[in-house]
Amino acid sequence: MAAPCTVTMEMITEATDFVRARYSEQPEIGIVCGSGLGELADSVEEPAVRIRYGDIPHFAQSTVHGHSGVLVLGRLAGRRVCVMQGRLHPYEGLTYLQCSFPMRVMAKLGVSVVILTNAAGSLRPEFQPGDIMTIRDHINFPGFSGRSPLQGLSPEVFGDRFVPMNNAYDKKLRDKVAAAAAASGVSLRTGVYAMLGGPHFETPAECRMLRSLGADVVGMSTVHETIVARQCKVRVIGFSIITNVVVTDSDSELDQTGVHLEVLKASKLAANRLQSIIAHTIDQL
Ligand code: 6GU
Repeated sequence: MAAPCTVTMEMITEATDFVRARYSEQPEIGIVCGSGLGELADSVEEPAVRIRYGDIPHFAQSTVHGHSGVLVLGRLAGRRVCVMQGRLHPYEGLTYLQCSFPMRVMAKLGVSVVILTNAAGSLRPEFQPGDIMTIRDHINFPGFSGRSPLQGLSPEVFGDRFVPMNNAYDKKLRDKVAAAAAASGVSLRTGVYAMLGGPHFETPAECRMLRSLGADVVGMSTVHETIVARQCKVRVIGFSIITNVVVTDSDSELDQTGVHLEVLKASKLAANRLQSIIAHTIDQL
């Protein structure tokens, strides 16, 4: 399927109608499962409906190991949820419009809050593999080179063309997450997520630069989803699972060829704790 160079309201409606025909209730909360976090979707309770992305009109199918590419609808902690088991990344060769299309469909389905999760590399020695971080803010490096998921939309879609990005990760929701983490006895970091396009990892010099610019963790996703969710007036909660600490020494000969497996392993370790925080948070929404 050739990548569409625009998104129209008709495309969003077709996809939404397709999902509604299989799940007639209105989901309240959207969840995107990051690398190795697909299990979150397995805890969705009956009657869970599972739809492959590739079957939904205008959805791209995800191609990454650890991202199964299934939309799961049902109940979690008593609330109606729509979960993306696996996300779409620009590094798969998908456009920002394609990667963020599911956000528009979730918004149209009636979701008012999305919980975006990802696996990220730590730029701070004290943020260790297995730690969970709420995203306080982001740095959108693809945005600096003129790329935005809001480009190329047909006029009826965009609502607000110029979308504010302060409070993108809603402060009131972050406060609820902090309370939920305390209630479930899970410790929580908070910090700034930097998005780079990948799929290569960063050089040590780039990691030092990112740290000096105020980023705490680095990854290859999430930011375009946040931007589109905000355009759709959907509130955003972001979680990063710290899966590895980046190398900052340009002379390091450390073999990093296994990092993606490390990423999947570390996020699986944290998945239960994250699930517990999410369940407690959902309960408070
Ligand atoms: Cl070190 N970099 C990026 N870009 N994404 C990651 C990562 C690092 N670790 C997990 N995801």
